[in-house]
Amino acid sequence: MKTELSTVGFNLPDLAQENKTNRILAAALGERGMAAAPTDDISPIHWEAGYFDLDRVSIFQGARALEQQQILSQLNQDLLQESIHIEQAGVGYMAKMVLMAESNQECMLYALFSADETMHLAQLKPYGGNPTTDAATDPFLQLLAEIVESMDKTVLLFVLQVVLEGWGLTHYRQLARGCINLQLRDLFQSFLQAESRHHGAGVTLFRQADLSAPSQAAIVDCLAMFLQMIRVGPQRVLGAIATHKGHLSRPQRIQILQQLDTVAHSHQRLQLLKSIMAQTSATIVDELEQKDLFTPLSPEEAASYG
Ligand SMILES: [Fe+2]
Ligand SMILES: [Fe+2]
Repeated sequence: MKTELSTVGFNLPDLAQENKTNRILAAALGERGMAAAPTDDISPIHWEAGYFDLDRVSIFQGARALEQQQILSQLNQDLLQESIHIEQAGVGYMAKMVLMAESNQECMLYALFSADETMHLAQLKPYGGNPTTDAATDPFLQLLAEIVESMDKTVLLFVLQVVLEGWGLTHYRQLARGCINLQLRDLFQSFLQAESRHHGAGVTLFRQADLSAPSQAAIVDCLAMFLQMIRVGPQRVLGAIATHKGHLSRPQRIQILQQLDTVAHSHQRLQLLKSIMAQTSATIVDELEQKDLFTPLSPEEAASYG
């Protein structure tokens, strides 16, 4: 029996194959029209070097073929594991919003949304392979898990549904566009309509709610931590290179971040986040702007993180 309640459910165990609950779940998913799991043997590479801008990184270009393959496969697994964890967190988040609903319609809507995220989770899981991302040590997933525990509905609506679902929409669109596995590409593409509705519902409900000063301060705090993670640039790519090439010196880290064009990389993402936030609350954007949180770090500054 689990002792600690966690909305995101990252620590939930998977049941053994022979457990009968698996069969009931498979039947229930099948009735809802879940596409068959991929049958052809799953290549670990669904996004190629160019997707991560590794074609511009000299240390990657100079690496042995096996090392290149290992770096690429780690980054591919990271992307998949992150998506799987986000969908899993979504199931729990939407279920929590069922309990926090203030009308029958809201309750029904969130129960449907929880089912959407369940379908996404079930469809992505077969691509997951061996988890490389440990949810307990990944800073983004940890932050997500903490924010979901908030009992302040305006914080949940703005941070998770307006900002992160809005961000997720663009992220999934890019994952689909850059994916060389046609089945997986179609899968990410098929999530977009539901994700867009999750985001839209968040915008509508947030606008109808009264935002108190303490809630706004809490939202700004959460988003400040999230923006900081974007400001530091493509640290995962740097981490994957370090894992397979061994220790990187500071000048090497700076060079890789320069070649990855970390400033442009972060700038593009920060501007996207800003526009998503600005559509719903100009005052929150102003507060974050005053803290200079939409400015990317230079390669020298970013090299000190990760
Ligand atoms: Fe989803
Ligand atoms: Fe969603």
